[in-house]
Amino acid sequence: MIKVKKRKILLLPGDGIGPEVIGEVKKIIKWFNDNKSLDFEIEEGLAGGCSYDKHGTPITDEVFYKALECEVVMLGAVGGPKWDNLEFSKKPERALLKLRKELKLFANLRPAICFEQLVDASTLKPEIVSGLDIMIVRELTGGIYFGEPRGIKPIDNGERKGINTHTYTTSEITRVARIAFDLAKKRSNKVTSCEKSNVMEAGQLWKEEVQELHDKEYKDVELSHMLADNCAMQLLRNPKQFDVIVTDNLFGDMLSDQASMLTGSLGLLPSASLGAKNKDGEMRAMYEPIHGSAPDIAGKGIANPIASILSFAMALRYSLDLDNEADALEKAVQDVLNDGLRTKDILSKGMKETSTPEMGDAIISKLQ
Ligand code: IPM
Ligand code: MG
Repeated sequence: MIKVKKRKILLLPGDGIGPEVIGEVKKIIKWFNDNKSLDFEIEEGLAGGCSYDKHGTPITDEVFYKALECEVVMLGAVGGPKWDNLEFSKKPERALLKLRKELKLFANLRPAICFEQLVDASTLKPEIVSGLDIMIVRELTGGIYFGEPRGIKPIDNGERKGINTHTYTTSEITRVARIAFDLAKKRSNKVTSCEKSNVMEAGQLWKEEVQELHDKEYKDVELSHMLADNCAMQLLRNPKQFDVIVTDNLFGDMLSDQASMLTGSLGLLPSASLGAKNKDGEMRAMYEPIHGSAPDIAGKGIANPIASILSFAMALRYSLDLDNEADALEKAVQDVLNDGLRTKDILSKGMKETSTPEMGDAIISKLQ
């Protein structure tokens, strides 16, 4: 078992705009080192299409072992059309899925917060999204993403059959539900658990196990169950009814994308993928922006680094026990938005357009 090294951060910029946005995170980590005497140790590695191009694999063993020993992994984004036709095991996304699975990062926290300054950027009416603050807790290492059997095989009539398997066990459900309940206690004390118990046995088990855990240990938290399709609809109808949503890997993938657009821009939303704490209180974790690699704007210096910077704020809070620093960084982002600075994706009339590095610099100047 590889030991986790305290305060060691692995940067995996990845593909597309990944290197640009993680570049700004690197500047911020250095700022904390120089100005707050924090001794973060930075390592870097290739993951995704860039690793495939150089090494023929989306992630090398060397980089994977580095990830195992770092307390924090900061990932940019992986993938792009260039690698679309590779066989499954070589696709850039495999790097991400391998890290999630092998590092046992079973709880994916995806906040959807509507910044007051950007209420108008949402496609929904301001009164629907203003003040929105949802936390989606997505199960990340189980379900149909990883279930066996899987594959594509020929069948008798000359056709082919594609197979994936959706499975969950009691412990896979309860450990992620526990994270959701614990988070709710620090927020508005409400959990909505989403599945398709009307059509899937694994969904029925999900519902029963979440309810049982609630009744045994979290009676003081308000719990409701919702079918995932209804949840998709309710997120558009009245998103402020939600506090914490806990759901499986696939529904979480879709519902979190949907929730993110309530806030106006994918460019602002961070995420954290957490493992279990060991007996020494150590935990593996990976932080990444919700947005993808956006190959269409890569290399132009116009990507929004805020989602990555806020992902680092989550790392400060959840992995590094530096709540004050996390607060300061989040406040610096707010201050910059209040000043009217905007990258292209969130630009509106009367605001000042800034490049990726200018946005990073502006946030750093607010930290001073
Ligand atoms: C996400 C992404 C990934 C997923 C892809 C890139 C494999 O959509 O993190 O939501 O499906 O989990
Ligand atoms: Mg997704």
